[in-house]
Amino acid sequence: MLFSKKKNLGIESEDMNKIVADSGITHIAFIMDGNGRWANKRGLPREAGHGVGVKAFKKAVTLCRDWGIKTVTTYAFSTENWKRPPQEVREIMRLLDEYIKEAEDDNEKNHIRYIFLGDKERLGEELKAKCLYLEGLTRDNPLTLNIALNYGGRAELVSAVNSLIAEGKTEISEEDISSRLYTKESPDPDLIVRTGGEVRLSNFLLWQSQYSELYFTDCLWPDFDEMELRRSIIEFSKRKRRYGGV
Ligand code: IPE
Ligand code: IPE
Ligand code: MG
Repeated sequence: MLFSKKKNLGIESEDMNKIVADSGITHIAFIMDGNGRWANKRGLPREAGHGVGVKAFKKAVTLCRDWGIKTVTTYAFSTENWKRPPQEVREIMRLLDEYIKEAEDDNEKNHIRYIFLGDKERLGEELKAKCLYLEGLTRDNPLTLNIALNYGGRAELVSAVNSLIAEGKTEISEEDISSRLYTKESPDPDLIVRTGGEVRLSNFLLWQSQYSELYFTDCLWPDFDEMELRRSIIEFSKRKRRYGGV
């Protein structure tokens, strides 16, 4: 207890609006990993970890918004996550469905524009329609929340290139590719935070992460709280971004 208090010393009193503004961070992305392990450690089924993970996610989004970060992206379900047991996939989709309904109800007060990154076809007609409806409903809101759902960085690149081929292009630029990605409405992420202790991107934002700062923490996603979020952004604010220059 004493140790964790010491570790947090000063962090809780930092003015995050100022740190966010001074650091220039406009886009933060989360690889929300560790839900299953969080649950297993407590003798609970993996699904329970996803439920608590949604709560942590909502808190993180609210804090980012209040601190002035304009774009948040989160990795909710990858193209590879279909390999999981059917009941786990079903529960993740049910939680998403519930989340979408709440987002609709809270639209007036949240000011969030929702964009789903990924191929919606595999989600089934009902969930796909709900995603499209929420995107349309929130289109004019000022803050963006990208939810990567059935998302894979490679699939995204392949689909971008295929759409350029379909348009008849025989030569393409970096701008052409960027403008066909699911993230075309957003700047590249300044910071990518991965919880859960793994040090990899797992097919997330492969193109967009070119010069993103990466932050890895052992904290399991359901435990990712305000202190953890503050710590990641404060660490980002100390990084020197050179983009290949000096
Ligand atoms: C959440 O964490 C990520 C999702 C795919 C929803 P995991 O479910 O991967 O949790 P761990 O890594 O097995 O602990
Ligand atoms: C990455 O987590 C995907 C999401 C957070 C949705 P995984 O748990 O699927 O990644 P790996 O399998 O450890 O690389
Ligand atoms: Mg995992």
